[in-house]
Amino acid sequence: MFAAAVGDAVWAPSIHNSQPWRFRCTADGADVLLDERRRLAVCDPDGRMARISCGAAAYNLRLALAVGGLPARHRQESGSTLLHMWPGPQRPPTPLERRLHRQIPRRHTNRGPFADSPVDTRAPLVLAEAARREGGQLDFVTGEPALAALTALIRTAEARQLADPAYAEELRAWTTDADHRVEGIGPCAAGAAPHPAEALTRRDFGGAGHDTTRDVSHQPVVAVLAVLGDGPADAVRAGMALQCVLLTAADLGLATAMFSQPVEVPAIRERLRCVVNPIQDPQLVLRFGYAPTTCYTNRRPVADVLEA
Ligand SMILES: Cc1cc2nc3c(=O)[nH]c(=O)nc-3n(C[C@H](O)[C@H](O)[C@H](O)COP(=O)(O)O)c2cc1C
Repeated sequence: MFAAAVGDAVWAPSIHNSQPWRFRCTADGADVLLDERRRLAVCDPDGRMARISCGAAAYNLRLALAVGGLPARHRQESGSTLLHMWPGPQRPPTPLERRLHRQIPRRHTNRGPFADSPVDTRAPLVLAEAARREGGQLDFVTGEPALAALTALIRTAEARQLADPAYAEELRAWTTDADHRVEGIGPCAAGAAPHPAEALTRRDFGGAGHDTTRDVSHQPVVAVLAVLGDGPADAVRAGMALQCVLLTAADLGLATAMFSQPVEVPAIRERLRCVVNPIQDPQLVLRFGYAPTTCYTNRRPVADVLEA
């Protein structure tokens, strides 16, 4: 049962598809651990992105256990053990848990063009509530000045990072030319190269050619995911909120894309904080919309991440 739940957990998103997680059975439950060897040394020196990724996997694990009839309680730990889980009171899974669990294999990061159709006006409320349930805050960036400020921060962060040869080298190492590799991002999932005029500058995973149909002029639906607190445990909580939001979006039929460049560059992250919510600590920028399914990335086998 636990191995099957880990099989769901690994379908979480992770920075560059680095899958920086491990799972361990203990005498009274299970632990979710950070695999330090898989942290991205250049773009993620403090491990924030790795911890968000592990938090997303922990959310999948909790959901899978609940749907399998073994709901778990959890508490956050310190060091490389991020979360300890133990059996909670028996109860049947809720209809919402069942729906979100069904979205685990369907959710994926979409780097293709999003349609111009307006997003259902109720969706932002449902998504913000999903973030809140896991202790996160989702602030939608609306109005031309705020959107322009946000897109400029993403563009500047992307340019600053690419100017660092060590960053470019690290990105190349996780950008694979083979779609069958079990980690990193292959050419199909990478999408076309970022268009110089696109509003939200996508990270350049070496995709070929420019997508001439890309939406460059319309108002994207964008939000900043934040949590209160800036420590390692807060990043794990942000990851659980992230995955709850992403699965909820998939359940609503929405495609999602992520932009972490402005969070990874410390000076730009400070400016990002001011764009939407000066009180909370920004963790990730998310885009929601309608778009055809694109390519899925692969995962390492469960045996590689499960400690006996
Ligand atoms: C913390 C975090 C940061 C991410 N940052 C970006 C990003 O800046 N640009 C991007 O295209 N994808 C980003 N992603 C998405 C990952 O590249 C993606 O989750 C991974 O390749 C696995 O693919 P999947 O989400 O389709 O399963 C991020 C994901 C996480 C969890």
